[in-house]
Amino acid sequence: MTDFNHRRIPFPLAMILIIAAAFALAGQLQSANAAPVFLGAQPQASSPQPDARYEVRAVHDPNGTGRFYMGREIAEVMGAGGITWLDRPEREDQEQPEEVIDAMGLHGGDVVADLGAGSGYFTFRLAAKVGSTGKVLAVDIQDEMLETLRQRAAANGITNVEELKGSETDPHLPAGGVDLVLMVDVYHELAYPSEVMTRVRDALKPRGRVVFVEYRKEDPRVPIKEVHKMSVEQLTKEMKAVGLARVKTLETLPSQHIVIFEKRN
Ligand SMILES: C[S@@+](CC[C@H](N)C(=O)[O-])C[C@H]1O[C@@H](n2cnc3c(N)ncnc32)[C@H](O)[C@@H]1O
Repeated sequence: MTDFNHRRIPFPLAMILIIAAAFALAGQLQSANAAPVFLGAQPQASSPQPDARYEVRAVHDPNGTGRFYMGREIAEVMGAGGITWLDRPEREDQEQPEEVIDAMGLHGGDVVADLGAGSGYFTFRLAAKVGSTGKVLAVDIQDEMLETLRQRAAANGITNVEELKGSETDPHLPAGGVDLVLMVDVYHELAYPSEVMTRVRDALKPRGRVVFVEYRKEDPRVPIKEVHKMSVEQLTKEMKAVGLARVKTLETLPSQHIVIFEKRN
């Protein structure tokens, strides 16, 4: 007979209790080992758990997050305080939005996602292009941006823009439902680029395209912080990793590349 806490327990029952406790302990150790390691920003509660593709470095650009993906430092997300900058009148000359829209080769009736739409600088131009038979899915992770989009759409009677709240890992786009995804000055600040771009690829129709507009990292004269720039080579490497092939690069804007990728499978 075994004595537990001064009470007498029959030997067979004591053996069952000991074996059960040993199994419970082994289970706990196993799940602790399998737990993903989160480096840097934590995913939002509703998001799938990202894997440990992201590296944290102590030595990094003071304007960056210290989190790296495929050798590139991820930038901080621009807050809603940046709306005035996004809406600045000189942007028309600096970024030539009509040139970007033309490069996209859109048709009336297309379904386009403006991923990281911000205050809607491109969203409403896209809405005019795809017309009443088309639709623009304006995705952002910040409520202030989505509220600004809603107010501007309502004030201008625009009915073909749908605001979507994304998470850091998932833009919540409909699978196989989008002709083209535009990302202007966004990709370099995605906290989980691999997860987001995998969802983007899944959201594209066959031969659907992703159009990036990013400041040229190759050109040191471009007066933008280094972590807010992207090189074509790096972008191409990161898109290849999620199954997107580069089809065209346009260097017609003063400071940015327009880089176009396509879903091939
Ligand atoms: C620099 S602003 C650019 C806004 C807009 N594309 C423009 O050109 O005016 C970047 C925007 O991307 C959004 N953003 C950052 N990470 C995102 C993510 N994972 N999913 C969706 N939006 C994101 C930010 O909230 C911000 O509104």
